[in-house]
Amino acid sequence: MAQIREPVEAPLATFRDHFRDAMRSDVTILDRVTQYVLRRKGKEIRPTLVLLAAEMCGGVREESYTAAALVELLHTATLVHDDVVDEAETRRGVLAIHRRWKNKVAVLFGDYLLSRGLLLALDHKQYALLHTMSDAVRRMSEGELLQIETARKLDITEETYFRIIGDKTGSLIAACLAAGAESAGADEATADHARTIGEKLGLAFQIRDDLFDYDSSNTGKPAGLDLQDRKMTLPLIAALELAPEAESARIMRIVKKRRKSPGKIREVVAWVHASGGVAAARARMEQLAGEAADGLRTFPPGEAREALIGLCAFVVARKR
Ligand code: IPE
Ligand code: IPE
Ligand code: MG
Ligand code: MG
Repeated sequence: MAQIREPVEAPLATFRDHFRDAMRSDVTILDRVTQYVLRRKGKEIRPTLVLLAAEMCGGVREESYTAAALVELLHTATLVHDDVVDEAETRRGVLAIHRRWKNKVAVLFGDYLLSRGLLLALDHKQYALLHTMSDAVRRMSEGELLQIETARKLDITEETYFRIIGDKTGSLIAACLAAGAESAGADEATADHARTIGEKLGLAFQIRDDLFDYDSSNTGKPAGLDLQDRKMTLPLIAALELAPEAESARIMRIVKKRRKSPGKIREVVAWVHASGGVAAARARMEQLAGEAADGLRTFPPGEAREALIGLCAFVVARKR
């Protein structure tokens, strides 16, 4: 990531100031939660995408910083809420907000970040940006809800899976590239092209995330959490499609159980590997990241474009 950030290192420092300022509050508890969040920043992939896209499309402007800060505010808000929804213990290696404080604090803090993001765009009169980002948040909520609905029924097809991950993850990453391009003055066609690339990159990004659940060698989260949660993702969906029907039925009976022993989880994980589900998901992820990189090659050559192409490779190879 350090190498990818290089062309926008200085703009990223300015972005961090905007991001921090946008969260400021004189309510003590808000200030405490904010400090807690700021101490553990994430990979900053989305602001990096905004700034690199801006750089590639003519150069970072004041509007680009608003876009970068807004997207990280929205992203942080959705992570705080996502951990409540998923009942996750940790985030970024420390206790999730709702575990460190309470659910009510996490829900309200997420709302606070969301409103600060919207206000930031309004303060700068960046209405097109507000439109782009609000639409992404709408899709994220839809994707999360569709995921909850299909998890209950456990009848998820590959098509539904792609709808879910496109909405919950692709939408915001697509918005980053579109907003970055727009902030540099790109025309509508160029911004749309950037958006399409972002959507593909976002799909690849979420497949990578879902593959972590089938790979215990990563340092991030333990394998099998999605499975325990009865969350069906691409490796499992692909394996079920590849395997003989009787075998798939046997595995689904295990997956459907509300409580599964660690041994049963290991059995399903091993089966998904042996049935070619992991390899199939990996192939789809690499294909999508490759298409995103190819799309980028139609933009003017330069440091920013090369860094974005590097980011496509990073998304596929990342370990966290
Ligand atoms: C996590 O996003 C949420 C998903 C869309 C899978 P990131 O992996 O970009 O989170 P941080 O910001 O780096 O922690
Ligand atoms: C991430 O989804 C949150 C959003 C995209 C809104 P997940 O629940 O799949 O991701 P992690 O693994 O908790 O980051
Ligand atoms: Mg989650
Ligand atoms: Mg989730």
